Amino acid sequence: MLDSIAELRERYLAEVASAGDAEALESVRVIALGKKGEVSLKMRELGRMSPDERRTVGPALNALKDELDAAIRARRTALEDAALDERLRAEWLDVTLPGRPRPAGTIHPVSQVMEELTAIFADMGFSVAEGPQVESDWHNFDALNIPPEHPARQEHDTFFMHRAAGDNRPPHVLRTHTSPVQIRAMQAQGAPLRVIAPGRVYRMDMDQTHTPMFHQVEGLAIDRDLSMANLKWVLEEFCRAFFEVDHVELRFRASHFPFTEPSAEVDIRCSWEAGQLKIGEGSSWMEILGSGMVHPHVLRAGGIDPEHWQGFAFGMGIDRIAMLKYGIPDLRAFFESDLRWLRHYGFSALDMPSLAGGLSA
Ligand code: PHE
Repeated sequence: MLDSIAELRERYLAEVASAGDAEALESVRVIALGKKGEVSLKMRELGRMSPDERRTVGPALNALKDELDAAIRARRTALEDAALDERLRAEWLDVTLPGRPRPAGTIHPVSQVMEELTAIFADMGFSVAEGPQVESDWHNFDALNIPPEHPARQEHDTFFMHRAAGDNRPPHVLRTHTSPVQIRAMQAQGAPLRVIAPGRVYRMDMDQTHTPMFHQVEGLAIDRDLSMANLKWVLEEFCRAFFEVDHVELRFRASHFPFTEPSAEVDIRCSWEAGQLKIGEGSSWMEILGSGMVHPHVLRAGGIDPEHWQGFAFGMGIDRIAMLKYGIPDLRAFFESDLRWLRHYGFSALDMPSLAGGLSA
C-alpha cells in the first residue's frame, strides 16, 4: 500500500509540474483529489484495513493529499505569475515617448468667413435661412420680379437642369444667387423677419476673378417701417466687426436690381499700399455688395402685404470679402483643393470668431 502511495505521489507531482495552464492543472486536481479522485478513493479503503495498517497508511495518505494540494496551489500561482509577466511584456508602453504627430485638417477660409459673418449678424438679430441649390426658375427669377423675357435672365449665365423629353415645364436651375432664399424665408416665416442666407451659387463663368461656383450671403429684414438708413447702419456695423477696424466708410452708388427699388451697390473705402489692402482709409473704393429696398412685387410673391410691410435686402460675395480680409490674391485657388494652399490659408478649428468685432486671433 505504501508503495502505491509513493507511486501516486511521484506520478501526480510530475503531472502538476508539467501542467501548462490553469485548465490542465485543474484536471490533474480533479483526477487526484476530486470527490472521485484516486487519492479520495484510497482514503475510502482505510475503513476496510486493520488498525495497524490504518495507523501507517492513514497519515501517509493525508500527507500525500496535503503535499499534492500545496503543489497544485504553488503551480497555480506560478502559472498566474507567468501569465501576468507575459501580459506586462506584451502591453509594455513607454509613456515618456513623444506623441506621434497626427495630420490635422484646417478650416477653409470660406467656412471660416461664413462662421464669422453668421456670428456678427446673429448679434444683430439675424438668423440663418437656407434654400436648395437646385432651384425652381420661379424662385430664382419670376418671384424676384424677373419675368421670362427680362434681360437680367441673360446676364445671369444660368446653368439649366435637364428635363425629360416631352416634359414642358420650365427647367430647374442651379441658383444664380442667394436671393431666392428671400422668397422661401418670407413664405416660411412671414413678417416681421430678419435672416441671412449664406451658401453656394452658380454661374457659367471662369477667369481669374470668377469661378462657376462661388458663395454669397443674402440678407433680408422685413418690418413695419424699415428704411435705407437701417440698411446703411447694419452694413456699417457688419463691416466694422468683420474687417476689425474702428472706422469704415461705405459709398452707396445708385444701381438697378429687379428685386429692389431703390437699389444701390455698396463700395468700401480702402487703400492698396505695396500690394497690401487696408480697409477704412485711402482713396480707393472696392465694390462689396448689392442692396436695396425690397420691391413690392417680391414681397407679394413671398406672401407679404406691401401695404403694411417693407424691408431691405442685400447680397454679398463671401469669397470676395474672404480675399479682402485675409489677403488672398487668386479666387480660383479657393476651389483647387491644393493641400499646400489649404495649410497656408486654412484656420485652426479653435480659431473661432468672437461675437464682438470679428476674430479673436
Ligand atoms: N442677388 C444680387 C446679385 O447676385 C445681389 C442683391 C441681393 C442685390 C439683394 C440686391 C438685393 O448680384
